[in-house]
Amino acid sequence: MNDYTQSDRRSTGSAGHGAGAGAGVSRQQLLSIIESAVDRKRFHEQHWEGSFDEYLDVVARKPAVVRNAYQRLYDMVLSFGSERYRKFKKDLIRYHFFSDPIDRGTDAIFGLDEELMKLVDVFRSAAEGYGTDRRILLLHGPVGSSKSTIVRLLKKGLEYYSRTEAGALYSYVWLLDADAGPTAKTHEFPCPMHEEPLLLVPADARAQLLARLNETYAAEGGHGKLRLYGDVNPFSRKVMNDLLVHYDGDWRQAMSHIRVRRLALNEKDRIGIGTFQPKDEKNQDSTELTGDINYRKIAQYGSDSDPRAFNFDGELCIANRGLCEFIEVLKLDVAFLYDLLGASQERVIKPKKFAQTYIDEVIIGHTNEPEYRKLQSNELMEAFRDRTIKIDIPYNICLEDEIKIYKKDFGPERVKHIHIAPHTLEVAAMWAILTRLEEPKKAGITLMQKLKLYNGKSIPGFTEDSIKEMRESAPREGMDGISPRYVQDKISNTLVSPQALEEKQMNPFMIMNELEDGLQHHSLITDEDTRKRYKELLGLVLAEYEDIIKGEVQRAISADEEAIRRLCSNYIDNVRAYTQKERVKNRYTGKDDEPDERLMRSIEEKIDIPESRKDDFRHEIMNYIGALALDGKRFEYNTNARLYRALELKLFEDQRDTIKLKNLVSSVVDDATQQKIDVIKKRMIEQFGYNDRSAADVLNYVASIFARGDTKGD
Ligand SMILES: Nc1ncnc2c1ncn2[C@@H]1O[C@H](COP(=O)(O)OP(=O)(O)OP(=O)(O)O)[C@@H](O)[C@H]1O
Ligand SMILES: [Mg+2]
Repeated sequence: MNDYTQSDRRSTGSAGHGAGAGAGVSRQQLLSIIESAVDRKRFHEQHWEGSFDEYLDVVARKPAVVRNAYQRLYDMVLSFGSERYRKFKKDLIRYHFFSDPIDRGTDAIFGLDEELMKLVDVFRSAAEGYGTDRRILLLHGPVGSSKSTIVRLLKKGLEYYSRTEAGALYSYVWLLDADAGPTAKTHEFPCPMHEEPLLLVPADARAQLLARLNETYAAEGGHGKLRLYGDVNPFSRKVMNDLLVHYDGDWRQAMSHIRVRRLALNEKDRIGIGTFQPKDEKNQDSTELTGDINYRKIAQYGSDSDPRAFNFDGELCIANRGLCEFIEVLKLDVAFLYDLLGASQERVIKPKKFAQTYIDEVIIGHTNEPEYRKLQSNELMEAFRDRTIKIDIPYNICLEDEIKIYKKDFGPERVKHIHIAPHTLEVAAMWAILTRLEEPKKAGITLMQKLKLYNGKSIPGFTEDSIKEMRESAPREGMDGISPRYVQDKISNTLVSPQALEEKQMNPFMIMNELEDGLQHHSLITDEDTRKRYKELLGLVLAEYEDIIKGEVQRAISADEEAIRRLCSNYIDNVRAYTQKERVKNRYTGKDDEPDERLMRSIEEKIDIPESRKDDFRHEIMNYIGALALDGKRFEYNTNARLYRALELKLFEDQRDTIKLKNLVSSVVDDATQQKIDVIKKRMIEQFGYNDRSAADVLNYVASIFARGDTKGD
C-alpha cells in the first residue's frame, strides 16, 4: 500500500515536471527568479532591530538618523538632485523630485518651478531651525492648481526615503508584562507616537549627547543642528517611571525593556503620515487630532487618566516624525484652528486629561482661493496669517507645461483605442492658458502673442526684459481662469462621446465644442461676462488652430523633396547668372536665355524681400555658397532656413492649383487628383502624426478655408 502511494506520487510528480519542462521553465527557475527579486539584505536593513545600546552604535555611525521631520523632508527633496537654469532673466532651480521619479512621473508637477523653489526654501530654513519650522505651511491657490498633488508627492517621497539607507529613522517598542507593567518582557507595546529612541535619554545627558553627535553631523554637511525637544509621550513616560521604581532608579535596567526598530513611514499603516479632512463643520471633535480615551481599557487600568487607557491615534499623533496634511484647512472650526496653530508654534498637542505632548512633524495645509478670500475679512485670519507661511500655487501660464499635464493622462500610452489627432490637447491647453492671462497693457501685442512669448517664442520687438516687465505688471496672472481639472474632465467626456467612439478618434473641434458646452454648467463661473469672454477665447484658439493646420498642409504639399531640390537649383542657376551678369542655358531648348526674373521674384516675395533688397539678397546667397564651397561643402535646398521657407511656399503655390485642393470639398475627384491627395495624406501621417481619418479631416477643412478664398501665405 505504502509503496503504491509512493510510486503513485512519484509518477504524478514526474508528469508535473514534464509539463513544466514543456513550457521551458522549471519550478526551481521560477523560485530563483522570485528569490533574486526579493532582496533579503535590503529586507534585513529595513527591519533592523536591536537593543538601545546597539542603537547607539547606529547613531554614532550616522547621526543623521536623529534628524527632525523638516530636516528629513528637505534632505529627501535634495536627494533626487536638481538643476539650475535661467528663464526670463530669473535664476531658477528645478528639483527633480517634483517630476515624481518614484512613480515614473505619475504625480509630476509641471511648470511651477518658481513656486516649488519657494516651498523648498521654506523646508531649508526650517531644517536650519530658523523659525519656519514653527509655522504651518499653507498652499494657496485656485481650484485644481495641483496643491493636493504636491502634498501627495511629499508624502510619497517621505515614505520612499524612510526606506532608503539615507533616510533611515528609528523608534522603539517596550517589552512588558500583559498589563504594560514592569514585571515581565512577554508583551510588546510600541511607542504610540513612534518617537525617536534618544528621547528616552534623561534631559541633562541628552544635551551633551547631541553636542557630540552634532560634531559629526556638521562635518558630514548636515543642515541645521540635531535637536530633540520636549519629553516622551505620556504612555512611555508612565512606563519609564514604573520601570525606574521597579529597578530602584537603575536607568540601564529600565532600558533593557526597550527594543529599537527601524521605522518605515507609511500612510496606510498610519505611521508618520496623516491626513485630516474637515467633515461637518459642527461636528468637529479635537479627539480626531489628538486621540481619545479607550473606554474598554479604563476598567483594566482603573482610571481614565492612565495613559495606558488612551489611544494616541489622533491625526497629529500618528503623523509624528513625518507630515500631516490638512485638506481645506480653512474649513476647520475656529477652536480647532487654534489647536493647530499651537501644535505648530509650540510643537505640542494636548491629549485629553494629559499634559502636553511633544510632536515633530511638518504641518501643511491647503486652501482654495475663494475660501481664503472669504475669510480675509475675518479677524481670525490675522492670527492665522501671522503663524502660517503662505505659498501661492497658481495655474500654469506656459503652454508647453500645460500640454504636459494633459499628455500625462491622455498620452498614447494611456489612451490606446482612440486616436487623438495632433493639436487636440494643445488647443485645450491653449484655451486654458488664455483664460488665465490678463490682456496685455501695452499696445502692439495680442493676447495670443503674449501666450507665445510666455511659451518661449521670440517675437520681434520683445526682449526677455519686456517679458519680465509684462509678468511683473500682472502679478495675479495664473490665479484665475480655467483649471486643468475642468479641461481633464472635458477631455475624458469627449473620449467617451458617441462621435469619438464611432470615429475612433478625437480631434480639436470635438474638444473645443465640449469645452464650450461645459461652460453653461460650470459651477465656478457665475457671471455672464466671464462666460462670454471664455467663449470668445475659444474663437482665438480656433483661428490659431486654422493657422497651424494650414501651415501643415502647406508643408505636406511642398514636402516633395525632388521637386523642391529642382526648384532650388533652378533658382540658384538663375541667381548665379544674374549676379555674374551672364545668361542661363535653357535646359529644354539648349539656348542661352536671360535670367528668369519672374521666377526669382516669385520666390523672394514669399519671404518679403522687397525689390530694392533683391540684389543684396542674391549676393548674400552667392557669397554663402562660395564660402561653403571653400570648406568643401555643398549648398542644399534646406541649408538656408529662409530660402527653404520661400521655396516651400512657392512650391505650395504651384502645386495647390494642380492638386485642385478646392475640389476636395466637392465629392467628385478624378483619379489623378486622388493620387496626389493620397501622397499628401501620407506625408501628414508620417510627418505630423495624423492617421488616415484625421489627415483627411484636416485636408478637407483646409480645402474649405481655401475655397472661401482665404489664402494667407504663412
Ligand atoms: N502644474 C501642474 N502640473 C501637473 N499637474 C497639474 C498641475 N496643475 C494641475 N495639475 C493636475 O490637475 C489636477 C488637479 O490637481 P489637484 O487635485 O492637485 O489640485 P488642487 O489644487 O488640490 O485642487 P483643489 O483646490 O480643488 O483641491 C490633477 O490631475 C493634477 O495632476
Ligand atoms: Mg485638493
